[in-house]
Amino acid sequence: MTIAPMQRTATTAWTDARLILALEEVVETELNRHLKVAKEWMPHEFVPWSQGRDFDGVLGGEAWSLEQSKVTPLGRISLVVNLLTEDNLPSYHHEIATMFGREGAWGAWVHRWTAEEGRHGIAIRDYLLATRAVDPVELERARMAHMSEGFESDNAHSMLQSVAYVAFQELATRIAHRNTGHHSGDPLCDQLLAKIANDENLHMVFYRNLLKAALELAPDQAMRAIADVVINFRMPGHGMPGFERSAAQIAIGGIYNLRIHHDDVLQPVLRHLKVMEVSGLGPVGQHAQDELGAFLAGLDAQATRFDERQAALLARRAAAAAARA
Ligand SMILES: [Fe+2]
Ligand SMILES: [Fe+2]
Repeated sequence: MTIAPMQRTATTAWTDARLILALEEVVETELNRHLKVAKEWMPHEFVPWSQGRDFDGVLGGEAWSLEQSKVTPLGRISLVVNLLTEDNLPSYHHEIATMFGREGAWGAWVHRWTAEEGRHGIAIRDYLLATRAVDPVELERARMAHMSEGFESDNAHSMLQSVAYVAFQELATRIAHRNTGHHSGDPLCDQLLAKIANDENLHMVFYRNLLKAALELAPDQAMRAIADVVINFRMPGHGMPGFERSAAQIAIGGIYNLRIHHDDVLQPVLRHLKVMEVSGLGPVGQHAQDELGAFLAGLDAQATRFDERQAALLARRAAAAAARA
């Protein structure tokens, strides 16, 4: 990586504009690497079209009802959360295009990423409608409500925070899709979500490698950004109708909860970047690293308490089910 025109000193304050310029070469390298490893796949191949039939309304077909699909209740809740999250792509595109620009390597990445993400919403919606896994009217109303709110990034004020956020968020999305597939009750749905999860993983690798370069270029500011993002992390779908209720069920069901967030999302990225081992930081970076360490220890303890409550709840549910049988 060439950072020749820039002075790397502990006191250099990097503006967003300078960071974007200095990281353009890394973006180009990562984009080319991404294009080499990303394999084309066809969403239509994962949709069992033969299960599809007309709905009531204009075509006078069969109305939707719950028992028409084999997807589990938990799988249904999570699939809707994942789809509505994907549906808000126009707002995400707006946020990253505004931050990173639409020219050069950055622009090429922004557009390619948007195209790949677009496939996810298309594939999940086609699957859900063909298999009648969700109420299509409720789904459409939820999509309208969610997209009408738009999405505003918590990190729009900072380029480094934006990069740090997407590195964690892409992995969070990967894990959410993968675990939803495992809990869906339909092997085909599992296969489709594994494919989508693979895309999300490649997105994570792109942003993680970019964050690594930023950490080398501007260690103090990048450390501060990482700490702020980890401490204040929220899933991108947090604004959708009924999110809190769905998230609670998704947590208890073991698709995405504090333990998974700590162990499978935060730690892998932090360990890969050796964030807690970065040395030679200035006071700002050092303070951020200390804060991050304390936060992670607290989160781990909180996750352990969650695990215990979850185990107790599941045991009570199993005992109640056994008593009914
Ligand atoms: Fe996606
Ligand atoms: Fe993604």
